[in-house]
Amino acid sequence: MRTRRAVLPDVEQIHALIAQYSPDGTLLPRSLAELSENVRDFVVVEEEGEIISCGALHFYGRHLTEIRSIAVSPKHKGKGAGRVLIDALLEEAEYHRITCVCLFTRIPDFFAKFGFEYARREELPDKIYKDCLKCPRLHACDEVAMYRGTLPKIAAVSLEQIQVPLASLQA
Ligand SMILES: CC(C)(COP(=O)(O)OP(=O)(O)OC[C@H]1O[C@@H](n2cnc3c(N)ncnc32)[C@H](O)[C@@H]1OP(=O)(O)O)[C@@H](O)C(=O)NCCC(=O)NCCS
Repeated sequence: MRTRRAVLPDVEQIHALIAQYSPDGTLLPRSLAELSENVRDFVVVEEEGEIISCGALHFYGRHLTEIRSIAVSPKHKGKGAGRVLIDALLEEAEYHRITCVCLFTRIPDFFAKFGFEYARREELPDKIYKDCLKCPRLHACDEVAMYRGTLPKIAAVSLEQIQVPLASLQA
């Protein structure tokens, strides 16, 4: 098992991996075009030449990056690929001197193993602006926000951009 940064020819396998977890809402679907655009965010885990796991690190700035699109192929679950992947993404975040890594998940116990703690969504305004405001589940979100490091005191978006929607989130 080895990790490496993804390259464009990996996009179809990454797409197939994520697609296995999209129909039930575990992962957001990602189109081939979107994956091609963001392939530099991805790390993959390979075993015997096959990509068995993928995950991405999306940068908002040094103050915040988000772990997303985490998937281990169903037949390779439980063999440590998830751990290897998360360790590699955290190493990448450290390499870029990111001060806070966040994620949204329904399996907080898995991420707690890597030192992630619970956050309030409103403590991560960049993420809310990028995804949550466009999400049909905005008011019925069953994911928990988690972070590792120091919660950001700044945001790449201006607070005015999210103030009203944030107020309705808290209502
Ligand atoms: C969650 C997922 C990435 C775990 O990958 P994996 O390769 O099976 O995990 P590992 O074998 O590396 O397990 C590492 C540790 O996490 C634990 N773990 C694995 N899945 C877990 C889960 N769903 N909840 C809590 N702990 C979990 C393991 O027991 C192991 O613990 P240990 O080190 O104390 O023994 C994988 O099951 C997956 O792809 N799930 C579907 C997609 C998904 O839910 N992605 C996350 C969306 S935020």
